[in-house]
Amino acid sequence: MFAAIAGRYDLLNHLLSGHIDKSWRRLVARRVRERLGSTGFILDVACGTGDLSLTLSETTGARVVGTDFCRPMLEIAARKTAKREPHIPLIEGDALRLPFRDCSFEAVTIAFGLRNLSNVERGLVELLRVLKPGGYVAVLEFSKPVVPGFRFLFNVYFTRVLPFFGGLISGSKSAYQYLPDSVTRFPDQKELSVLMGKVGLESVKYQNLTGGIAALHTGKRPK
Ligand SMILES: C[S@@+](CC[C@H](N)C(=O)[O-])C[C@H]1O[C@@H](n2cnc3c(N)ncnc32)[C@H](O)[C@@H]1O
Repeated sequence: MFAAIAGRYDLLNHLLSGHIDKSWRRLVARRVRERLGSTGFILDVACGTGDLSLTLSETTGARVVGTDFCRPMLEIAARKTAKREPHIPLIEGDALRLPFRDCSFEAVTIAFGLRNLSNVERGLVELLRVLKPGGYVAVLEFSKPVVPGFRFLFNVYFTRVLPFFGGLISGSKSAYQYLPDSVTRFPDQKELSVLMGKVGLESVKYQNLTGGIAALHTGKRPK
């Protein structure tokens, strides 16, 4: 599915979100910088076309590695990051079996990726595995709007308008129908916090973004 939409993925992200997605990724990068400064290695899981990897690299100055299992997405990421210094290595790999040793990274991020994994809990366990003790995890994901009137309007947009235009522009109707369907199945803000605690992360917090359309969950691996 992601291979089929790779070529139009960035355009549709920015168009259908009114460019708000960029500010969400910048917030992730600022939070990581607050924790890490410019030192250490950051792994951006399900990096797709590399937007968060690039933002992390520009904002923190730290070494960033991107990984995703979809080669056409990675090929676009490779073109976008080609001139970036320090270089951003892009590694093809499954988020449920990350091709990295235990305790390799100071921070791990995943943006709009966790929802797509066949087993969300196993995905979190895998993120934790590659984090160093004391390391920081940031999960950016669609969530549930918290203000009732706004929630209704957003749901009309997200379940009707977005799949129509997304399908039309990308040529894949099913991919943009999958988007709202997968968000409906995904844990809400509180449920995801509980799940992150359950797998062993501590100091789990979340921040609603744009009224809860998305949420940024953070936590750390115990020392
Ligand atoms: C919605 S895109 C998000 C891309 C990027 N992080 C962003 O912020 O735009 C979801 C990405 O998750 C990747 N993905 C889904 N399941 C995966 C898995 N099991 N392992 C690795 N990548 C996966 C897809 O290939 C796709 O690039």
